[in-house]
Amino acid sequence: MVKIAVVPGSFDPITNGHLDIITRGASIFEQVNVVVLNNSSKNPLFSVEERVKLIEDATAHLPNVRVETFSGLLMDYAENVNASAIIRGLRAVSDFEYEMQITSMNRVLNDEIETFFIMTKNQYSFLSSSIVKEVAKYGGYIGELVPPQVEAALKIKYDTN
Ligand code: PNS
Repeated sequence: MVKIAVVPGSFDPITNGHLDIITRGASIFEQVNVVVLNNSSKNPLFSVEERVKLIEDATAHLPNVRVETFSGLLMDYAENVNASAIIRGLRAVSDFEYEMQITSMNRVLNDEIETFFIMTKNQYSFLSSSIVKEVAKYGGYIGELVPPQVEAALKIKYDTN
């Protein structure tokens, strides 16, 4: 049986930090499902379809990565696809409390699916989709922080061509 790991997130949009975590997860697990979920505390810039397409473009070179979307609980999705693991990225201590809370809640929902944390590369430890959007909005350079298709998509969204 193929061991599936799920990389969940809102990916609004995917950054090189996300890509780093997905790439490293894909080198460990046989199959990685990146799943775009709704984070109820965020108001997304990109539609779910746009986010999926941007992730598909950025991960096209990784044959064991699949991109999906799900409306509902992460653990319901993970059960549906028979996943054995969840992978989340950790950037700094400030991420820890939030991650501990959602991991603990997810464990109440299903304690057979393990959550693994991968530390992001140092060069991406400050990076988030929000900070990228903030810079892109005012026409700042983000070329080293996101895949090329994301840079182009942000220029169109913010009309900063
Ligand atoms: O990229 P993000 O916004 O940090 O990802 C958070 C996300 C989408 C993984 C989280 O909000 C989530 O799992 N949403 C789906 C709903 C859910 O399962 N909530 C229960 C966990 S407390």
